[in-house]
Amino acid sequence: MSESFRSMLRSLPDFPAALPVFDPASAPLDPAELFRSWLDEALTAGVPQPHSFSLATVGAEGMPSSRMLILKNLDAEGWHFATSRLSRKGRELTEHPLAAMNFFWSALGRQVRVVGPVTELSTDASAADWAERPGADGSENPTWQLYALRPVEVEFWQADPGRRHVRHRYLIPAAD
Ligand SMILES: Cc1cc2nc3c(=O)[nH]c(=O)nc-3n(C[C@H](O)[C@H](O)[C@H](O)COP(=O)(O)O)c2cc1C
Repeated sequence: MSESFRSMLRSLPDFPAALPVFDPASAPLDPAELFRSWLDEALTAGVPQPHSFSLATVGAEGMPSSRMLILKNLDAEGWHFATSRLSRKGRELTEHPLAAMNFFWSALGRQVRVVGPVTELSTDASAADWAERPGADGSENPTWQLYALRPVEVEFWQADPGRRHVRHRYLIPAAD
């Protein structure tokens, strides 16, 4: 049973044979600009929910936890996401305001990893995000919180059919 499961896993397809070629030498200086163009290309390639990502947080005694979220914006404050402050991730972010994001676009063989400190955005911005969410019914949610992750590290990874995978890493000094 476990042997057949193992061989079934081994037989699953890898990345598609045709993948984009990424040359880090031509990458822009701003990782947000490169992210926007990769997100555009994921949209064009028909990747479902290309704005979803896994968010890892740190809990008690350093225990990590992760879950999928939706990216809400990118601006000078950072990469925005929203959730309830009372959720597990909300409580973990209050305790340890640091997180790691991971975007994965299988059809393009691409991954983007983003790491940094997280800050809470304003009550007004959080209320506006709650009001704009799909299925909003006019109710308020005082626990809803918009956060911004300010990257100190962003890594772009491009799979290569010949397994010469390409990584391009930006290190950004933390803001004071
Ligand atoms: C694709 C996808 C997008 C999601 N987007 C959000 C989101 O933007 N905000 C949110 O609070 N939960 C979102 N969820 C649910 C979270 O993954 C998670 O189950 C929930 O927030 C509770 O997480 P926690 O108990 O770790 O705090 C999404 C789930 C999926 C699968």
